[in-house]
Amino acid sequence: MLERLVYRSKATHKLGSLHLFNLLSLCRERNKRMDITGHLLYTEEIFVQCIEGPSASIESLWQSLNRDERHHDIELLARGPLQERRFAD
Ligand SMILES: Cc1cc2nc3c(=O)[nH]c(=O)nc-3n(C[C@H](O)[C@H](O)[C@H](O)COP(=O)(O)O)c2cc1C
Repeated sequence: MLERLVYRSKATHKLGSLHLFNLLSLCRERNKRMDITGHLLYTEEIFVQCIEGPSASIESLWQSLNRDERHHDIELLARGPLQERRFAD
């Protein structure tokens, strides 16, 4: 089953473009392996991310995200089954 999860969080430290680039590179590589697509918005030290993919991958990434000290005050905004990916590419 495909699932989508959307959350908002606060960056622990202000991220410069190099850190953001490194984070994005890691996400893209790992997400490809886990069949996860989505988007990541970063502005004013706030993250909003949408991830979509197989339920097991979403659950695993969600656990990792909750352990990640680069952000805090993680707030789940939406989570549920998905018929079709919105960010397939
Ligand atoms: C805002 C934010 C977004 C992230 N997005 C992803 C992501 O899309 N995919 C991913 O694999 N890791 C992402 N990470 C990194 C994970 O939190 C985690 O460090 C990484 O998946 C390694 O997990 P592990 O430490 O449980 O092995 C993100 C981290 C932050 C702070």
